[in-house]
Amino acid sequence: MTLRHVADGLHYALRFIPYLLTLPMRKTQPASCGAVYDLGSWRNVPVTFDQMRIERHLSEISLKDRRILHVGVGSSRVAAQFHARCQLIDGITVMEDEVSHAERLGIPNYRVYLMDKYGDSILGLPNKYHYILDNNPSSYAPHRDAMQTMFARYMDLLEDGGVFVTDTLGMQHHRPFAFPMHDEDLMAFEHKLPVKYVKVNRTVRALIKNVNA
Ligand SMILES: C[S@@+](CC[C@H](N)C(=O)[O-])C[C@H]1O[C@@H](n2cnc3c(N)ncnc32)[C@H](O)[C@@H]1O
Repeated sequence: MTLRHVADGLHYALRFIPYLLTLPMRKTQPASCGAVYDLGSWRNVPVTFDQMRIERHLSEISLKDRRILHVGVGSSRVAAQFHARCQLIDGITVMEDEVSHAERLGIPNYRVYLMDKYGDSILGLPNKYHYILDNNPSSYAPHRDAMQTMFARYMDLLEDGGVFVTDTLGMQHHRPFAFPMHDEDLMAFEHKLPVKYVKVNRTVRALIKNVNA
C-alpha cells in the first residue's frame, strides 16, 4: 500500500466526520416499510467505500441497454453517474426523503420506490434487471431466513445471465441484530439457487444467474 493510498483513505474517512457528529439528530426511523434499518437518511452522506468500489466496477463495463436495480439508493449517486449509459435504473430505499430527493433530480430513466428488500413487495417491481447492486446484503436482515429469501427474490428479478453485485466490506458490515456475510455464504448459494459465484476483483463479488442459459 502506497502513501498515496493511505492519504486517499484518510481523506475519504474525514468526509464522514460531519455525518458522525450530527448522527443523533439525523436518526429517523423508516416510516412506512416496517424495516429495522436505523442509520437515518443517507441523502446527504458521502458514498460508502463499498458502494464506491461497486461503482468503479460498473464504470469499467458496458451498460448499454442494461436495466439496473440499486438497493439502498442513499444519495442517488449511482443513478446520477450511470443513467446515461444504461436503459434504466430502478432503486429502492426505506427512507422517504431519499425517494423525494431522487424525484427532485428529475432523471427520466430513474425511479425510486419506498420498499423493504426483505418484504414480498420487491417482487412487484416493474422490471427484470441485468444488474442488482446491494452493497449491504445482510446488514439489516431480521434473521437469516429473510436474507436467504431476499436472495431468492433477487434471482426472480434478474434476467438470465443477470448479475447480483456486492462488495466484501459491505458484506461484513452488520448491525447488532444482524450478521456478517462471507465469501463462503455467497458460494453456498450455488447449491440452493441457479447461480455461479464470481470473484470479480479483490473486493467486488457477484452471483450470475443461469450463467449458461
Ligand atoms: C447506509 S445507507 C447506504 C447508501 C448507499 N448504498 C451507500 O453505500 O452509500 C443504507 C441504504 O440502504 C437502505 N436500506 C436499509 N435497509 C433497507 C431495506 N430493508 N430495504 C431497502 N433498503 C434498505 C437505506 O434506506 C439507505 O438508502
